[in-house]
Amino acid sequence: MWVLGIDTSCDDTGVGLVRDGQVVVNLVASQASRHQGYGGVVPELASREHVQAIDPLVRAALAEAGVGVRHLDLIAATRGPGLVGALLVGLTYAKGLAFALGRPFVAVHHLEGHIYAALAHHPEVAPPFLALVASGGHTHLFEVPAWGTYRLLGATLDDAAGEAFDKAARALGLGYPGGPEIERLAAEGDPSRVPLSVPLQGQEGFDFSFSGLKTAVVQALKKGYAPADVAARFQQVAVEHIAQVVLRAARSTGHTTLLVAGGVAQNRALQARLQGAGLELFFPPRGLATDNGAMVALAAWRTRERHPGSELGVPAAPYLPLATS
Ligand code: KG4
Ligand code: ZN
Repeated sequence: MWVLGIDTSCDDTGVGLVRDGQVVVNLVASQASRHQGYGGVVPELASREHVQAIDPLVRAALAEAGVGVRHLDLIAATRGPGLVGALLVGLTYAKGLAFALGRPFVAVHHLEGHIYAALAHHPEVAPPFLALVASGGHTHLFEVPAWGTYRLLGATLDDAAGEAFDKAARALGLGYPGGPEIERLAAEGDPSRVPLSVPLQGQEGFDFSFSGLKTAVVQALKKGYAPADVAARFQQVAVEHIAQVVLRAARSTGHTTLLVAGGVAQNRALQARLQGAGLELFFPPRGLATDNGAMVALAAWRTRERHPGSELGVPAAPYLPLATS
């Protein structure tokens, strides 16, 4: 069974092909350089770039897989959350294709896509588990007691985790996306030289906060601390904050399995910090952590029984909570 998955939720056009639950092709057309001069993603520009990229990217994915459009059995796209104009490009394209081919269409929640990406190589994993989605737009910790049930335990009170890496990187004069740049610079620095403290010390809940950290980075640079040391300390403290919240949630709920998804899941310091805490950990394989189409195809494949009919009537939803309870 061939599944085509499309994600155009933000600034990357993602097209993936999954065959019987295995990722065959995963192409991402990044718009990062188009938005660079504006200090953030420009929604109208993102929509236009998706319009230009989507059809050639789908054709390229099919060519790479060596299949024709008629081989597709199921077509899926992200319906939300995201930028509405951007979402509509992928969603409308996918619906049009599904309708023309007479194939079922599945509308996917972006965060559910991220979660299934963490299980790409581990389809045997089953609930209950904890799932942390930490990306440029989201920092959500879910308890998943059963497939399709998402209980929100905590979320960021301000900036998302990836956004914090991006903002700290900008303060440090590094490029976008900031996560990988910070990770590279941090390797050359000594975190013990910079006094930044871990956010929300002493809280008993499972929320996150990163905006104070960004301000602290700016202050530390003003005071003349070396950029590499500031990057190293920022990363250490951000990772420690995430780890403390997640490990507290694991203790409190008794769950021993943790999925870490979204772009920040690629961070090796975070991966290292979570190892050895007695949890069974699952991270997305390379290329599946940041926004992509294969994760959408994987989610559609894994949840197809939940969607009895084609979902051509489902609208785009820029604000779409995943939590079901
Ligand atoms: O999942 P994603 O593509 O975006 C959203 O759905 O929002 O994640 C992108 C985010 C960016 O903020 C980027 O800086 C961050 O993930 N990121 C990282 C790393 N790689 C990407 N953050 C920390 N360390 C990394 N290695
Ligand atoms: Zn995402």
